[in-house]
Amino acid sequence: TPAPDDITSILAAHRDLEGPLLPILHAMQAAFGYIPEAAHRPIAEALNISRAELHGVISFYHDFRANPAGRHVLKICRAEACQAVGGAVLAEATLAKLGLAWHGTTANGAVTVEPVYCLGLCACAPAAMLDDRVVGRVDAARIDALLAEAGA
Ligand code: FES
Repeated sequence: TPAPDDITSILAAHRDLEGPLLPILHAMQAAFGYIPEAAHRPIAEALNISRAELHGVISFYHDFRANPAGRHVLKICRAEACQAVGGAVLAEATLAKLGLAWHGTTANGAVTVEPVYCLGLCACAPAAMLDDRVVGRVDAARIDALLAEAGA
C-alpha cells in the first residue's frame, strides 16, 4: 500500500501545473503501478473537483488501473480492425477461459488482462501485447502460448 507521504509528495510536485490532473494520475500510476483508492480524496481536494469527476477521468483513460496488476499484463486489442477479424470473440474466449472480466488478474497473480485500443498492428490483426511485446495474428493457440509463458 502506498504511503500517505508518497501521495502527498506527488500531489505537491504537480498540483501547480496547468492541467494537473493527468500528470498527477500518471505519476501515481508510475510510482504505485495503479491509482490507489487512498489517493482519491487527497487528489479531489487538492484540485477542487468531485470524486465522481475524478472517477470519471480514471475510468475514461484505459491506461489507468484501479488495482495493482499481476506480474504480467496481456493486452488484447479491441479496436475496429482487430474486432473485424475475430478479435472480439478471441478476447471473450480468453476472459471466459481464465474466469476473468477485463482488468481482472488470475488468482495466482501471474496475468492481468486489459483491453487496448489499437496497437498499430492493424495489418496483422488481431493483435495483442504481452508486457512490452506486441504480437500480431493472434489466435486461441497463440494466446494460450502467451498465457503459458506468463505463468497463468
Ligand atoms: Fe488492433 Fe489496430 S485495431 S492493432
